[in-house]
Amino acid sequence: MKVLVIGGGGREHAIVWALRRSARVTEVVCAPGNGGIAQLARCVPVNQKDLDDLLQVVSAENPDLTIVGPELPLSLGLVDELERRGLRVFGPTQAAAQLETSKAFAKEFMQRHRIPTAHYAVCTSEAEVKQAIGLFHAPLVVKADGLAAGKGVVICQTKEEALETAAGIFSGKLLGSADTKLVLEEFLEGEEVSFLVLCDGKHVAPLVPAQDHKRIGEGDTGLNTGGMGAYSTDQLIDNQMRDWLLTHIAQPVVDGMAAEGAPFRGILYCGLMMTPRGPMVLEFNTRFGDPETQAVLMRLESDILDAFEASIDGRVSETQMQWRPGASVCIIASSAGYPGSFRSGLEITGLDRAAEVAGVQVFHSGTALVEGKYLTAGGRVLGATAAAESLQQALALAYEALGTIHFDGIYYRHDIGHRALKL
Ligand code: AMP
Ligand code: GLY
Repeated sequence: MKVLVIGGGGREHAIVWALRRSARVTEVVCAPGNGGIAQLARCVPVNQKDLDDLLQVVSAENPDLTIVGPELPLSLGLVDELERRGLRVFGPTQAAAQLETSKAFAKEFMQRHRIPTAHYAVCTSEAEVKQAIGLFHAPLVVKADGLAAGKGVVICQTKEEALETAAGIFSGKLLGSADTKLVLEEFLEGEEVSFLVLCDGKHVAPLVPAQDHKRIGEGDTGLNTGGMGAYSTDQLIDNQMRDWLLTHIAQPVVDGMAAEGAPFRGILYCGLMMTPRGPMVLEFNTRFGDPETQAVLMRLESDILDAFEASIDGRVSETQMQWRPGASVCIIASSAGYPGSFRSGLEITGLDRAAEVAGVQVFHSGTALVEGKYLTAGGRVLGATAAAESLQQALALAYEALGTIHFDGIYYRHDIGHRALKL
């Protein structure tokens, strides 16, 4: 079978790596891919923001199956268009992806279907924000409605700061482009968990749980990033909690979307806060998370193709994904300056030695392979990913591999997994 993967980050590197282990996959093409993916798949250029360009790549490659990794092509309706053409594609339609592409839609949907989430107000003007803010206590959270690559959420310590943030979202000063809607939300405290489930429009099946580290600095300080590291261990949630999350969150989402005429197929990523009042949804993503996916797929023992096909064919309730016990971790190395501005084109060395560390895979995020040399090509550059019997062992392996890798200004957090080690 020939499979086309859309995307070019660490998540797609891990997906391509998992696909290459399937006996049924004969060829993998990735658009646009990156330097690391190029070792495992033929990479073809594509502008991920351009639906016509994406469709042209699919037509030219004529794959048996297309997997859409990132949110942007989902938001453009790539899945809808491929389904219309009778092609096999993994991922949600544009209408189903609204759970991620509009935070206001997601909050109102959760209210309609009684899915636990923070109290909120949707506002479309500064005047509405001024009025609604009286209902909240500081600190409070202000969220731009649309996709913002992880930069659209601001935790405000005071109501004045929330008003300023709201003004910045409406004017476009905060995110570079103006948004017409935002969500004001109650601030929740607790432990965050990324709970990913495979969906086929009717049924859900859980993947192993993970926890992301979104802040740039050690001790979870500083600016938010796309994710500086993630780990997966079953200790994050016990079986009873997993069943509760399936019954009270994941299944109601899939039932609700089906009832509203937008059945959800693909990966539903529930970003949860485990609060003293119980688990609450912070956000949905309608795709695999990055870097959670790198850690989670290190633990997948069964064929990933079975999972993709079960989602497309409505067989999720019959599918058993097999997981390796123990733990896994992905530690991201980023460019100096990230999540602000950074330099690209710096040579990466030591990847050969890192590959010799048993139990480790280095998944590339922003790299390019130019004349036989790996160069940095993004804020998040790569992620050393390891699986082992315990989280401590996985961490030791991943840090050992990272220690052999070098590029000018390489930065990574030394405390990935610190919350789990305290559990
Ligand atoms: P989101 O994109 O909605 O997941 O927000 C990004 C991050 O902001 C989350 O992973 C949390 O760390 C934080 N966050 C979002 N909403 C809240 C909330 N209501 N209370 C506390 N932290 C939040
Ligand atoms: N790691 C969070 C995300 O993929 O959005």
